[in-house]
Amino acid sequence: MTNSETKATLSFSDGSASLEMPIYKGSVGPDVIDIRKLYGATGMFTYDPGFMSTAACNSSITYIDGDKGELLYRGYPIEQLAVNGGDFLETCYLLLNGELPNATQKTEFVDTVTKHTMVHEQMQFFFRGFRRDAHPMSVLVGTVGALASFYHDSLDINDPHHREVSAIRLIAKMPTLVAMAYKYSIGQPFVYPRNDLSYSANFMHMMFSTPCEPYKVNEVLVRALDRILILHADHEQNASTSTVRLAGSSGANPFACIAAGIACLWGPAHGGANEAALSMLEEIGSVDNIPEFIAQVKDKNSGVKLMGFGHRVYKNYDPRAKLMRETCYEVLNELGLQDDPLFKLAMALEKIALEDEYFVSRKLYPNVDFYSGIVQRALGIPTSLFTGIFALARTVGWIAQWKEMISDPEQKIGRPRQLFVGSPKRDVPPIDQRG
Ligand code: CMC
Repeated sequence: MTNSETKATLSFSDGSASLEMPIYKGSVGPDVIDIRKLYGATGMFTYDPGFMSTAACNSSITYIDGDKGELLYRGYPIEQLAVNGGDFLETCYLLLNGELPNATQKTEFVDTVTKHTMVHEQMQFFFRGFRRDAHPMSVLVGTVGALASFYHDSLDINDPHHREVSAIRLIAKMPTLVAMAYKYSIGQPFVYPRNDLSYSANFMHMMFSTPCEPYKVNEVLVRALDRILILHADHEQNASTSTVRLAGSSGANPFACIAAGIACLWGPAHGGANEAALSMLEEIGSVDNIPEFIAQVKDKNSGVKLMGFGHRVYKNYDPRAKLMRETCYEVLNELGLQDDPLFKLAMALEKIALEDEYFVSRKLYPNVDFYSGIVQRALGIPTSLFTGIFALARTVGWIAQWKEMISDPEQKIGRPRQLFVGSPKRDVPPIDQRG
């Protein structure tokens, strides 16, 4: 971040105050005005619900150009990482360390992650406390938070080695916990990780093996899962990542912070959108019903949204959606499901929406979740676990952002301010005088 020669001046029309504020330049993207002295100088806060114009930190991890539809992890375009960038663990290494690993670094990293895949045997008792029909996201919020009680040896956030060990533990154990949540929900025994398999193949094994029948690894499907993980690995300062940073700003341990991120991701406007998009397609049912559905979406009183469409940052086609659409074709071909009615319906809906003035004028394009649900369903993943897979993928992004925040000398406890519109000070009346 460098200082710009240009300064911003804020002056009030009544001449009561004027303030000159520095402008900082990033490497790419919009500059920022440093408003930190505003309150001290004027006694006023800025008002920005939803952080529409507010950068809460500086970061060198992920860059999005929403107008161009560009997503870069540490400078590398997502298209290159997804197609030529190796597997998900390479992306993890990149996000955590800033550079892609060389062959030796990759082997060491994979080896370290692989050796942490098992969870404490006691963990299964936490699962057994949940109802079998509990939503996997509630199970994950609970069990990921509970990890903190098992790993006291890596909770000193001021120790870089502890931070590193916690990061590895979280990345390694998330697939095990997500698969355990699934197995518990269907009443099957938990399946232990297999360290001879790749990260994604091991996850499929823990999901789909039973003591009676091993899962036969299918490379096309494993690659598809790996791509889902790469595409969801990080997305700069979205709601769940900001939640992780805010939780972490108080000095909370990383397991607690990631549990907070999972809770935020659960919402349908964020990670829950893939589940909601698939349910929406199922509800629409057939191509003939699309016009009626689109009419409902346009009717502001209906409360209906086209799930998997629109994004706070992308005002163009989400680059992840293009890659996910490609993966969708590959997986459905591999499984002989080319005529999958839901996929055909999604294609028709996308085409109609992309030509419709309502969506065009608002720059609403498909986001990654429009297609990821169809891919996951084809992989055999139940709808209720879709957001859990998103959480598994995003764990590396959350932890990379958390680590970056902890080592930032400008880091302070997050404490937004408010415009108070409630009652001014008043006296408590006796109960017989209350209305
Ligand atoms: N369907 C219909 N109308 C929409 C949609 C949609 N999916 N998204 C936005 N709009 C309309 C909105 O009603 C508003 O219209 P108007 O200007 O007439 O009031 C206009 O477009 C601008 O929308 P906004 O609500 O101001 O946009 P936002 O940046 O606050 O919301 C969003 C972004 C993602 C929450 C929203 O687009 C949405 O709810 N989409 C559906 C849910 C979804 O797919 N979420 C996944 C996001 S990608 C995965 C992730 O990163 O978590």
